[in-house]
Amino acid sequence: MAGRIPQQFIDELLSRVDIVDIIDARVPLRKAGRDFQARCPFHEEKTPSFTVSQNKQFYHCFGCGAHGTAISFLMEYDHLDFIETIKELARQTGMELPEQSSQPQNSQLPALDELMQKATAYYRRQMKEHPDRHNAIHYLKKRGLSGEIANEFCIGFAPPGWDNIIKLLGNSKITTEQLVTTGMAIRKDDGHCYDRFRNRIMFPIRNRRGKVIGFGGRVLDDEDKPKYLNSPESPLFHKGNELYGLFEARQALRNIDSLIVVEGYMDVVALAQFGVRNAVATLGTAVTTDHMNLLFRTCNDITFCLDGDRAGREAAWKALDTCLPLISDGRQVRFMFLPDGEDPDTLIRAQGKEGFETLATNALSLSSFFLDTLTREVDLNSLDGRARLVELARPKLKNVGNPVYRLMLIEALAQRIHIDPHTLTQQIERGTPPAPTHYSAPQRRPQQAPGSRPSAIRIAITLLLNNPQLAQKVAQPGHFLALQEPGVNILVELLELLHANPNLHCGGILEHWRDKPDQRHLARLARQPVETPEDGLEAEFLGALMLLEKQLLEQEFQELNRKEQETGLSTEDKHRLLELLRLKNSLR
Ligand code: GTP
Ligand code: MN
Repeated sequence: MAGRIPQQFIDELLSRVDIVDIIDARVPLRKAGRDFQARCPFHEEKTPSFTVSQNKQFYHCFGCGAHGTAISFLMEYDHLDFIETIKELARQTGMELPEQSSQPQNSQLPALDELMQKATAYYRRQMKEHPDRHNAIHYLKKRGLSGEIANEFCIGFAPPGWDNIIKLLGNSKITTEQLVTTGMAIRKDDGHCYDRFRNRIMFPIRNRRGKVIGFGGRVLDDEDKPKYLNSPESPLFHKGNELYGLFEARQALRNIDSLIVVEGYMDVVALAQFGVRNAVATLGTAVTTDHMNLLFRTCNDITFCLDGDRAGREAAWKALDTCLPLISDGRQVRFMFLPDGEDPDTLIRAQGKEGFETLATNALSLSSFFLDTLTREVDLNSLDGRARLVELARPKLKNVGNPVYRLMLIEALAQRIHIDPHTLTQQIERGTPPAPTHYSAPQRRPQQAPGSRPSAIRIAITLLLNNPQLAQKVAQPGHFLALQEPGVNILVELLELLHANPNLHCGGILEHWRDKPDQRHLARLARQPVETPEDGLEAEFLGALMLLEKQLLEQEFQELNRKEQETGLSTEDKHRLLELLRLKNSLR
C-alpha cells in the first residue's frame, strides 16, 4: 500500500515527527515511568492501558491489542488512508512530497468507490423499474421483508443478463478494468467480460463510513447455485476486516453496548426488521482477529449466535480460539445456540423480538461454553479422561492473553474436575513455554519448541527493535542466512536495513514492513518489553548471536555427518569436519 511514496521519504518523515506529540494532540497523555499512558481511544476502558513509547516511537494497548507507529495511529484515529496520512504528516513537518508520489498506486480508489456507489444505485433502481422486478419483489415479500427495511439496507436487484453492469459502467477500457478489479465483472480467458451478479437479490456491504465496498448476491430460486455470491477481495473490500450490518447498526443506535454476530445477510436484515438492531454478520468467512478487534472497538459485549447443530458448535469453537488472546478486563464473549433447524431469521419471525431476546439472555458465557465443550469430550470419572481433559485444555489456556482470565478459567476447570486449582495450574503450565506476549494471535506465533526459551533469533530481533543501534555490532549479517531456522530471513533483513539506516527507531523499522506478511510478527516482538538493564543489552545481544553461530556450526556438522554416511567425505570435507569440531569446542 505504500504506493509510490519512496521508503526513504517515509524514513525521513518519521525521524522528524514524535509519536508522543501526535497522539497527545488527540488523546491527552500522562507520563508513566519511561512511557506515556492514556485511556485507550480504540476501546472503552476505565483504567488506562494504552501506552506510548517515545523511545520506540510505538504505541500499544494492553487492553485491546491495538498497536502501531505514528502513521498507523493517524490512519486509525483520523480514519485516513496511508497516503492521506503521509500527506498530513508531511504538511505538519513542512516536507514536500516527492513528485512521483502525487500519482500513488491507490489513486484508483476514488474511481472504484464511485463505481460501487453507481452500481448500488442501479440495482436499487431495478427493484423499481426492471420488467422482471416482480420476481425480486415477490421473493422479498415471500421472505417477509418490509419495504422499509429493504430500503434501509439498500437492497437491490441485479436483473438477468450477462452485461447489464458492463454496459452501464464499463464503456471504456479503464472502466471495464475497474469493474474487473472490484469483482463486479469477470474476465474470461478470451479477454471478454461478463457481469458477476445476474438475476440476484443484492445486499450491499458498507464500510464503517457507509460506502458500499462489495456485495452479496442471493439467488431468487433456491434450486439455483450457488445460493450466495460474494464480491471477491479487492482494493476496496477485505472480507476478513468487514462486518455486514455494522454501519447500519451504528446508524440505528446511538450507543452500541452489545453486538450479536450472526451468519447470514438475511439474519441481520430480519433481526433489524424486528427491532434487534445490533446484529452483524461475517461475510461467509470464519470470524478473524481483525473482526474481533473491530467488534471490541465498538463495544465490550459480543454474542455469537449460531446453529445448535454440530457445524454451529464447531464454528463456535473456532470463534473461541480467535477470541481467547483478546479477552481482557470487562470484555465479554458469549455463545447462543439456536434450536435445530432455526436460524435468527426464522426464529425471530416465529417467536418475535422477545423470543429471540430470551434466548440471547440464556447465552453461554465463554468460560461455560469452553468448559462444557471440553468436559463433553471426555469421561470425567476415569483418571484417563481427566488427564485427557487437561491435555485438551492446555493449548487453549495457553492462548488466553490475559493472565488473570487464564487463572480464572483454570480455576473453573479445576472445580469441574474436582482437583486442586494449584495442581492444575502447574499441570497446565508445566513443560510449556510462557506465552511470549499477551494478545498475540496463537496461530501466528513463531515456532518455538515446547519447553524451550524463546529462540535466539527471536531474542535478537526483539533486542534490535528495542535498541536498533545494536545492529552495528554485527559485521556480516548475510552470513546467518545459511541457518535453517524460522525467522532468519527477517533477522538478516533487519540487520541490513539498520546498517543502511543507522538512525531508524522501532516505529521507523516497522514502517518498512507495512503490509508485508511479517509485519505482525515484528510488531508483536516490538511490543515485548525488554527487562535487561541498559548495560547488559550488548552482552545479551551478542549472546544470542553466539548461539546462532553455534547453531550454524552444528548444522554444518550434521550435514557433513549425513554426507559421510551417504556418499563419504572428500579430503576437504574431512579437514572442515575437524575444524568444526575445534570450533564447537571453543564455543562451548
Ligand atoms: P438464506 O436465509 O437462505 O437466504 O440464507 P442465510 O442468510 O440463512 O444463509 P446461510 O445460513 O445459508 O448462510 C450464511 C451465510 O453464508 C450467507 O449469508 C452467506 O454469506 C454465506 N453463504 C451461504 N451460502 C453460500 C454460497 O453458496 N456461497 C457463498 N460464497 N457463501 C454462501
Ligand atoms: Mn436463513
